[in-house]
Amino acid sequence: MSCMQEEILKIEDLKVYFPVKWGLLRKEVKYVKAVDGVNLNVEKGSIHAIVGESGSGKTTLLRTVLRLHKPTSGRILFDGEDISELPESQLKGYRRRVQAVFQNPQTSLNPKWKVRDIIAEPIRIHMDLSEDDVEKRVEELVRLVNLPQSLLDQSPPSLSGGQAQRVAIARAISTSPDLILLDEPTSALDVSVQAQILNLLLGLRDELGLTYIIVTHDISVVRYMADYVTVMYLGKVVEEGQADLVLNNPMHPYTIALLSSVPQPEAEIPTMKRIEISGEPPSALDPPKGCRLHPRCPYAMDLCRSQEPPLVEVEAKHKVACWLHRPK
Ligand SMILES: Nc1ncnc2c1ncn2[C@@H]1O[C@H](COP(=O)(O)OP(=O)(O)OP(=O)(O)O)[C@@H](O)[C@H]1O
Ligand SMILES: [Mg+2]
Repeated sequence: MSCMQEEILKIEDLKVYFPVKWGLLRKEVKYVKAVDGVNLNVEKGSIHAIVGESGSGKTTLLRTVLRLHKPTSGRILFDGEDISELPESQLKGYRRRVQAVFQNPQTSLNPKWKVRDIIAEPIRIHMDLSEDDVEKRVEELVRLVNLPQSLLDQSPPSLSGGQAQRVAIARAISTSPDLILLDEPTSALDVSVQAQILNLLLGLRDELGLTYIIVTHDISVVRYMADYVTVMYLGKVVEEGQADLVLNNPMHPYTIALLSSVPQPEAEIPTMKRIEISGEPPSALDPPKGCRLHPRCPYAMDLCRSQEPPLVEVEAKHKVACWLHRPK
């Protein structure tokens, strides 16, 4: 059985640099290299997690896929078509098919609107339906995310965090998208509500045949949800692969440190060493030469200070960018 999985999204050597004025007279321009040469392949129907410390470029990557930022260079292929340079006037179809859910529904939803209008807005923009049919669709969506119809006439400030995030999810699926980008979708919610939202997302994925890219700080979310995981550090991918391979056999010191900082189900990974990486990540304005982790890495060698390690396959469906793991 040949099982070439179809890719819904393919990101090639993506760079997103933000210019900042610099120097005493602010005449010099430096660049924050928020995303600096990222490749990503997302298979149709999969859940692809992106993890990494604050400032590693996760949100910038998602916002660029949403075309809220224009890439500095590189390509973003959606269903085979490069959308990175398309003018806004040609992005309408893409915007219908790619939706997003952000961290804090209380700030991402318009507080003055009723829930029914929040959910109906993308339908009115993207689908050619009569007002009666828009209404029916909104009611169906509210059922799909397990909210009572009575909520339709309320506004976000009167909803709980979990209810508001369900509204954001209903809005995101309203246009029958193929891909949904989730940026920390549960981290602003009470712990007791987080699992309900994750389960809702998993159910909708199966029911509607969705693909997710989920950005999270929470390794247990990756373990619970993800098929694939990409680990980012200061704008670069340092490790990626099938989630169970990366989580149970992490190879990059940075990934090991991320996993070390949370309680692990020890039985599953008896051989894992623990590493602590101290301090804050350096600024993306002046990233270290060579491997960007070297100033914080307990294993740094001379080579790491001068040359950037390439991302290489260490086993099938598992790649690492670290000089400790050179290609054979
Ligand atoms: N619009 C912008 N202008 C200038 N710099 C920016 C802009 N957006 C992000 N940055 C910078 O780009 C880098 C990556 O930021 P980003 O928000 O993508 O990180 P993140 O991985 O999502 O972090 P967090 O986990 O805190 O959400 C940071 O150094 C940030 O300060
Ligand atoms: Mg972010």
